[in-house]
Amino acid sequence: MATATTDSPDGQGRERKKKTLALDAHSRQLLSRFFNDWLRPRWRELLGALALTAALALATGAYPMVIKFSFDNLLAGDVAWLPWVLVAIIFITLARSVLLYFQTVATQRIGLRLTTDMQSETFRHLIHADYARLTRDTPGRLMSKLTNDIQFIQQATLASMNSIMRDSMSVVALVGSMFYLDWMISLVVLGVYPFAVMPIASIARRVRRNSTRTQAELGGMTSLLAEKLGATRLIKTFRLEDYAAGRMNRSFEEVFRLKLKGVSVKARLESLLEALGGAAVAGVIWVAYWRISSGAATVGDFMGLTAALLMAAQPLRAIGGLVARLQEGLAAIDSIYGVLDEKPTNKDLPGAKPLQIQDGTVSFDHVNFHYGEASIPAIIDFTLEVKGGQTVALVGRSGAGKSTIVNLVPRLFDVTGGAIRIDGQDIREVTLASLRSSIALVSQDVTLFDDTIRTNIALGKLDASDEEIIAAAKAAAAHEFILTQPQGYATMIGDRGVRLSGGQRQRLALAAAILKNAPILLLDEATSALDTQSERLVQQALAEFTKGRTSIVIAHRLSTVQNADLICVMESGTIVETGTHGELIARGGAYAKLVRAQLLSDTDDAPPPGVPLN
Ligand SMILES: Nc1ncnc2c1ncn2[C@@H]1O[C@H](COP(=O)(O)OP(=O)(O)O)[C@@H](O)[C@H]1O
Ligand SMILES: [Mg+2]
Repeated sequence: MATATTDSPDGQGRERKKKTLALDAHSRQLLSRFFNDWLRPRWRELLGALALTAALALATGAYPMVIKFSFDNLLAGDVAWLPWVLVAIIFITLARSVLLYFQTVATQRIGLRLTTDMQSETFRHLIHADYARLTRDTPGRLMSKLTNDIQFIQQATLASMNSIMRDSMSVVALVGSMFYLDWMISLVVLGVYPFAVMPIASIARRVRRNSTRTQAELGGMTSLLAEKLGATRLIKTFRLEDYAAGRMNRSFEEVFRLKLKGVSVKARLESLLEALGGAAVAGVIWVAYWRISSGAATVGDFMGLTAALLMAAQPLRAIGGLVARLQEGLAAIDSIYGVLDEKPTNKDLPGAKPLQIQDGTVSFDHVNFHYGEASIPAIIDFTLEVKGGQTVALVGRSGAGKSTIVNLVPRLFDVTGGAIRIDGQDIREVTLASLRSSIALVSQDVTLFDDTIRTNIALGKLDASDEEIIAAAKAAAAHEFILTQPQGYATMIGDRGVRLSGGQRQRLALAAAILKNAPILLLDEATSALDTQSERLVQQALAEFTKGRTSIVIAHRLSTVQNADLICVMESGTIVETGTHGELIARGGAYAKLVRAQLLSDTDDAPPPGVPLN
């Protein structure tokens, strides 16, 4: 759909042929889609706001009439009408103020509702998107779409509603009363406005380009902010305050520069219309002179016309400004539809069936995997069968591809070659929901929410009872430390668990995985932050839990996987050695080398049996 763009936002669109106010095809399509998706469903509210606005405009249009009437009578020396004029003015003013109140609330409500609905739907869509898509943009950039971009849309919608309804109706009413007062003067005066069309069209294009850039920069700024504020420990310990402040300052300044540019481009519109307004007033005086002296018009007509013109100046400027607002809104709508139009690539195939677990055998059949932009594949021809109920350990240097393998099982990414099967069913052919509910994954970087300890464990099963939660915590050797927290299970743990130690966080994540009670357990260095003693405790608890479950365990300390049914050593994305601890030590290959290297570096660890300490 981006193919229809003639005025490309990145400034490549050098085609300056179409110097009209008409929107290009892409914009028209966006606008009608936006209208159908978000505004048409609230047509009742829109109609209500429209009716209020029309009434308001009519009340506005009555002013010039009253003024004409007063002046004509005043000049004729007739005073009997005075009380009536005063009553009329008070009545019109009262009506206007009441209408203004309801009109404002009704329109703002539509704008606010729109924002809320768009945020909710865009977030829902985004959070259901592929993991790969979600990790492609930084959280800050995505946040900015949901806040800044939608804000632009809200403002544009409000401005459009006000302009399309209030301002243009006021202008129509005022112009109507002008023609009623004296058509000839009106014709001359309004003749100046068509000259504004061309410059407005060119200004609009600049606004669009500038706005697209501003939105991108706002995304960058939000992203940087989130990153810097999320890394305060690093910033403090490395004394990076000035670096961080300097980097942020550059981003703030860039946003300032772009916004200022936007303001200046938009201000040109208003100035242009202001100048035209002046020309129009001069026109009125000039023509009125001839018309009054020839007796075709009265002084009252002249006064009424001038009042109408002055009153029309503000709504006319607003309508001019709308062109700019609309372009800003269109740039943001483009960006939001960019998100909403993305289709998840790993999703249920048509006719996907729920995964049928028999004993939970996970088999990797010549699996290949390549990260989107990486130059070399992360997994090459990985073949392994993890029999139901077995515990298989993956070991190897960092970067060997262990985490990648574990992430392929719940389809965070889809294999790029070969297949992964669970009990003979290709994981791409079963429903994602059934696949993911059969798997509990504790990943390397534990994620917790800023909520209570209880809630963070309950992530594994949202409707768990207190007994279940405590049992899971005990199984993860977390119960003791939880009781020492200020409010026990009700303790808030802070953003991502800042108020807990690394080992405590890991134990909560483990408890959540245990609570999930899934037949397949994937542990990616799940106990790496624990001291040896706590790790032993957790290992003992886990040994109980993993009985009868298929487990793939990535171990940081090799001593913890000695009892695995099978140990696979990975290097550069593939398996180089498999066997039990005893077999591999006896072979004296890659595994033995890893164990020896770790023994030398990790004095904390007792030597596993059968390892010569040479
Ligand atoms: N999201 C990613 N995008 C691109 N490359 C990645 C990504 N995650 C990991 N890699 C690369 O894939 C390889 C395997 O990484 P990983 O599976 O995390 O290794 P391990 O868990 O064994 O330390 C590494 O070379 C790493 O740089
Ligand atoms: Mg890893």
